Amino acid sequence: MRYALISDIHANLPALEAVLAHIDGRPDVDATYHLGDLVGYAPWPDEVVSLLRERAIPGVAGNYDSTTATDYKHCGCKYEDARQEELSHLSYEWTRAHVSADTKRFLGSLPFRIDVRPLGGHVAGPRLILLHGNPVLNTVYWTEDRSDKFCLQMAESVSGKAGDLIAFGHTHKPWQREVEGIHFVNTGSVGRPKDGDPRAGYAVVTLADGSTAVEFARVAYDVERAMEGVRASELPDDFAEYLRTGGKLPESAGQEA
Ligand SMILES: [Fe+2]
Repeated sequence: MRYALISDIHANLPALEAVLAHIDGRPDVDATYHLGDLVGYAPWPDEVVSLLRERAIPGVAGNYDSTTATDYKHCGCKYEDARQEELSHLSYEWTRAHVSADTKRFLGSLPFRIDVRPLGGHVAGPRLILLHGNPVLNTVYWTEDRSDKFCLQMAESVSGKAGDLIAFGHTHKPWQREVEGIHFVNTGSVGRPKDGDPRAGYAVVTLADGSTAVEFARVAYDVERAMEGVRASELPDDFAEYLRTGGKLPESAGQEA
């Protein structure tokens, strides 16, 4: 079975449309899942949720989804200075004020984790475990520089075994690693990449009996349209510049979640 995994769309409709078209062009993909953070930072939260529902794409809740759904005090995002904190707050307040009641209910209904058995539940594995941030809490960043020990601790919390693949997003930077036969894949971000490449990112993982493959895809999309959408809204223009540069700004412009 081959799965397309799309994470951290962050209300960026042009990026989501481009990624779905790209996946449609790959008939070898059997199923698509999202890994959360559907809203925040861009002006199309309802449209992104509608498109995912229309396409019946299942997935898990990101921190932005669950905090928006529950009117939490902040979005669960990390920030490193006062300006980032201010931008993070502006995005969260805008999103909470603009999502429909229906979108909010949908965001609140998303599960924390999804376990998939590519070979069927009548056999023990391998498993594809889908998360947003990590298996314990969606506000902890599982970055590439985390130790093997940290990865194994995370795997232990979901009873991960050799051959399993644990997929997540949240940091907006794609990476993968194998530790003691367990595969760890950060899919990167569809709608707000942070690795300096403005193209939308997602991952394709293949799990077969005894073999696993991971590919990262990058898709050029209409960034100008996304930037115009940000500028035409009351969201800070900083977020448009962030999209253009893939998160590599001379000065910080809001941290992710
Ligand atoms: Fe995110």
